[in-house]
Amino acid sequence: MGRKNVGEMVVVLVTLLHIWLVCVTASSLGNINNYEEHLRRNLLANGLGKTPPMGWNSWNHFSCQIDEKIIRQTADALVSTGLSKLGYTYVNIDDCWAELNRDNKGNLVGKKSTFPSGIKALADYVHSKGLKLGIYSDAGYFTCSKKMPGSLGHEFQDAKTFASWGIDYLKYDNCNNDGSNSTVRYPVMTRALAKAGRPIFFSLCEWGQMYPALWGAKVGNSWRTTNDINDSWESMISRADLNEVYAEHARPGGWNDPDMLEVGNGGMTKNEYIVHFSLWAISKAPLLLGCDVRNVTKETMEIVSNKEVIAVNQDLLGVQAKKVRMEGDAEIWAGPLSGYRVAVVFLNRGPQKHIDITANWNDIGIPPKTVVQARDLWEHKTLKTPFVNKLRATVESHACKMYVLKPVA
Ligand code: GLA
Repeated sequence: MGRKNVGEMVVVLVTLLHIWLVCVTASSLGNINNYEEHLRRNLLANGLGKTPPMGWNSWNHFSCQIDEKIIRQTADALVSTGLSKLGYTYVNIDDCWAELNRDNKGNLVGKKSTFPSGIKALADYVHSKGLKLGIYSDAGYFTCSKKMPGSLGHEFQDAKTFASWGIDYLKYDNCNNDGSNSTVRYPVMTRALAKAGRPIFFSLCEWGQMYPALWGAKVGNSWRTTNDINDSWESMISRADLNEVYAEHARPGGWNDPDMLEVGNGGMTKNEYIVHFSLWAISKAPLLLGCDVRNVTKETMEIVSNKEVIAVNQDLLGVQAKKVRMEGDAEIWAGPLSGYRVAVVFLNRGPQKHIDITANWNDIGIPPKTVVQARDLWEHKTLKTPFVNKLRATVESHACKMYVLKPVA
């Protein structure tokens, strides 16, 4: 066979593979749609997540090194720092909380050496502080750490266990599965949770593999759109980008999730963490702190307790912002808020010391000639002049400005 023929065959094979992949995706999405038509609009319908969830998760800071003391002390710290009053109420335990073996009835059990009082006691404690407890499992045979079992094949039993313990939030990972599509495995847990008798926020952690933005709202309350974040500018900003393309799919009850916050973990500058928090807030992402709240610094507190930025995230309109203008390293992200207001982030994502960025009303969805009052959310100042047609700002390298614009005439 000549070189050309081999080349042509490779092209044909790649095309066939592509067609097959598209068909497989379409048919499994079809499964969900058919299922939904026969039953109800939303498999889950648990009424949760009307605004993006806020709280803390153990993974980004502690990885597998967790125990009940850390979880209790974190709950205490969320209250004593005042963070819980600002809305950070979910205390979420990630991977590594369970024994590798189920008990003789097939139930998951908390790891004796690190969670000796059991998860139910922890839930009672967290509830006594006015907070909620989240837990973690996996739509596979083992979780990603392989240190505990997953829930594949045990969905109904595990959902019942979680409900009996008083769990309020389930993060459901995608490791070590049987090779079937997430569109098949995740709805099983959705049905199990719906049957378990307790409203449990359902967070799909399938890393964006099968485009969960397209089906997640029928199955869960949030869905990861990317693989894992790490505590660096590049990782953070690329997760924000990947998540942005799905903006239209976010809505009250179901949110795009670009992964948990790294603010306070030490890998970025203060300005970079401000960008991180601003982009997550305007993108209506879950605001799950990933630092050690027990030892939170003044600087971190200043960022994560910015009430005005949190209010953008928690606005009841629930519309995720989009990039509306990109010029080199200068970007404008904007999205509507209730009361005809608009939230805007001006971002300098490059090395240039200062960039002048101008938002025209046209770009950000404000009718021309509207007179607008601009509130700077990081300076906590209402700018003196009302603005007509545009707003201009100078933004430092790896930094942003964030405003709420309110029409006044
Ligand atoms: C995956 C998830 C992470 C974390 C780890 C735990 O990588 O995406 O968020 O839960 O597993 O092992």
